[in-house]
Amino acid sequence: MEYLIVGSGLFGSVFAYEAAKRGHHVTILEKRDHVGGNIYTKEIEGIQVHVYGAHIFHTQSKKVWEYVNQFAEFNNYINAPIANFHDEIYNLPFNMNTFNKLWNVITPQQAQEKINQQKAQLNLSGPPKNLEEQAESLVGIDVYQKLIKGYTEKQWGKKATELPAFIIRRLPVRFTYDNNYFNDPFQGIPMGGYTQIIEQLLDSPLIDVKLNTDFLNDRDSYLKHYQIVVFTGMIDQFFDYQLGDLSYRSLKFETEIRDMDNFQGNAVVNYTDSQTPFTRIIEHKHFEFGKGNKYKTVITREYPKNFQRGGEPYYPVNDQENKQLYSKYVNLAKSTYPNVIFGGRLGLYRYYNMDQTIMAAFEIVKREFG
Ligand code: FDA
Repeated sequence: MEYLIVGSGLFGSVFAYEAAKRGHHVTILEKRDHVGGNIYTKEIEGIQVHVYGAHIFHTQSKKVWEYVNQFAEFNNYINAPIANFHDEIYNLPFNMNTFNKLWNVITPQQAQEKINQQKAQLNLSGPPKNLEEQAESLVGIDVYQKLIKGYTEKQWGKKATELPAFIIRRLPVRFTYDNNYFNDPFQGIPMGGYTQIIEQLLDSPLIDVKLNTDFLNDRDSYLKHYQIVVFTGMIDQFFDYQLGDLSYRSLKFETEIRDMDNFQGNAVVNYTDSQTPFTRIIEHKHFEFGKGNKYKTVITREYPKNFQRGGEPYYPVNDQENKQLYSKYVNLAKSTYPNVIFGGRLGLYRYYNMDQTIMAAFEIVKREFG
């Protein structure tokens, strides 16, 4: 069988690898000038730079962990971000270190009591009406004001009182002195970056990759020529937005090389106040414990921004309205293009972590090849 895959991100690349392993020929079209989609990393000054935002691999699935470990050796990096609120420094996720810094409390009981007192002061009537009320009712006023409000408002470009409560269903609050952001048993960063994983997945005589090639420029002839098309781009764009535009949030990345060994002492620092225009600064060398040029470091500021057609759709907005529109596109796809498989974060309009993207690709592989 002859497959066309649109997009060389993690989803498209896992599918291509599995198809080629079974003897199928695959052509991949990639509109960017490199493979890898958003997990692409590029070496600058001996440092692996996460070009499309910080990527930390974490999963509960042993199967997925063993799968990715075939293509790279992972270090034991643990994500322990720092929050900077007007130069006050706090540990994330919210844990005993955070509570100790906020209130000088020592024991979990004291911390719990403090949070309960703050919740009792809230005077909310009925269920939370917006994100602000929801967050305050979960963690109290101080944590909300210093660590959630500004960051979330910048992320969404809206006041917390105008955002729906459902965005924050629960907030991870830990009553232990544990700064590990993720609860997953498997976590790390591939030593030497993520791009090698993609390059190895695509390293087969049965896989042809065409960079700088946008499928949508010649959609009809591709659809005529290939029996099966796996499309990992935006599903609304595939259909020329004929049912309406799905919403996304976008980001602007500003990267600079600094003449110093160590800029901020941590890979990820979140700026949680509302005045600082960016949400976080990534210092890439800390993902690999300082590997790279000792006299240089590379940092990236992340600015959330609105998405417009032609921009980069980083985050799907999973509210009710968009979910409904997405399912209309799914129905349209089924009735008009039964030989097109929509996959990946943009094709399925879902915020998938890397492990979920791989699992979603496994599912399609199983459906397609048995
Ligand atoms: P992806 O978007 O990577 O790839 C799609 C590819 O298709 C792109 O290369 C695109 O150029 C191409 N394409 C689209 N339309 C096309 C067309 N018409 N013609 C040709 N090519 C086309 N996950 C995690 O586990 N830990 C983390 O720390 C993070 N961090 C993180 C930060 C940020 C800022 C984002 C946006 C995402 C994360 N993720 C993450 C999620 C992770 O990036 C995600 O799971 C995978 O990259 C998804 O891979 P896909 O292949 O689905 O999409």
